[in-house]
Amino acid sequence: MKKTITLIPGDGIGPEVVAGAVTVLNRVAVRFGHTFEYRTALAGGAALDAHGVPLPDDTLGKCRTSDAVLLGAVGGPKWDPNPQHLKPERALLGLRKELGLFANIRPAKIYAALADASALKREVVEGVDIVVVRELTGGLYFGKPAGFEMRNGEPVGFNTMIYSESEVRRIVRAAFDIARKRSKRLCSVDKANVLETSQLWRRVATETAAEFPDVELSHMYVDNCSMQLVRNPKQFDVIVTENMFGDILSDEAAMLTGSIGMLASASLGGTVALYEPVHGSAPDIAGQDKANPIATIASAAMMLKYSFGLTDASDAVEHAIETVLGKGLRTGDIHTPGTTLLGSKGMAEAVAAEV
Ligand code: IPM
Ligand code: MG
Repeated sequence: MKKTITLIPGDGIGPEVVAGAVTVLNRVAVRFGHTFEYRTALAGGAALDAHGVPLPDDTLGKCRTSDAVLLGAVGGPKWDPNPQHLKPERALLGLRKELGLFANIRPAKIYAALADASALKREVVEGVDIVVVRELTGGLYFGKPAGFEMRNGEPVGFNTMIYSESEVRRIVRAAFDIARKRSKRLCSVDKANVLETSQLWRRVATETAAEFPDVELSHMYVDNCSMQLVRNPKQFDVIVTENMFGDILSDEAAMLTGSIGMLASASLGGTVALYEPVHGSAPDIAGQDKANPIATIASAAMMLKYSFGLTDASDAVEHAIETVLGKGLRTGDIHTPGTTLLGSKGMAEAVAAEV
């Protein structure tokens, strides 16, 4: 099989972790007899420095004409003072919107070898295997009107939280589909005791459940969900929620697993999907060969499965990650006494060798 992949290394540790994923993908290509062709594109701070915009048309064009997109991370202190439309993060939001990626899949799975790396007790987190399905192109992130203005003589900032029935229905359906292939339990998270958008969300989710009689739907308020995630995370299997709640809850779910450096994500719904680690650009360790490449490698594994249908290759990568961790190989973020410390490159090579 021949596939074209657009690589968007981005900023900070982005280039290092994407390079790590490519090391593993190249090994997959040899082992399973595929050809992966790479194109590199700029986004975020790197694009601002080179072209003065966070998301150049050339990047969007490359993404649209490839089979999948793998992104490292965008952002950094250098560009923080920029006005809103010139922030690196706009690149990510632009890619999601332009590519129609409304479904963000964020698995938070504990690797057995790392159960002690969690801030929570082993017995609370051992066996945790949650998928957060986050709506990605609506809600507060994109609702209009949004902006700054003067009201009653003082500056105000405002955003709009808005969802249409069809936006809710398609993400809830995507989550039901995922739940159907797992434990057949779906928890829809909202704030229906306060917000109109959430009342609409809950009604549409309940209606959609009729299409999936084999899946059990429950509802939970977002504040309670954030508490339950640390109290008893094992009660959850698939969680579906709107954009902002999903942003927050997915970081919380990620941290259950010990390191945000381990977690992958897929953004689906358009003709070409985007894969990226859940973590950010970590400017403090950029360029030092310290970054954990596993989240990006696991994102590439999701790409193999979701975009290319290469389930065997995807499983081989997941399995390689588990084996490497089982052997006690660690990057700095998950290093504990008695384990072997590797750099970013060393970790990627170890995973590739296991593939
Ligand atoms: C994420 C990030 C982004 C978001 C930022 C960088 C725009 O936090 O992917 O979760 O808020 O969606
Ligand atoms: Mg986030």
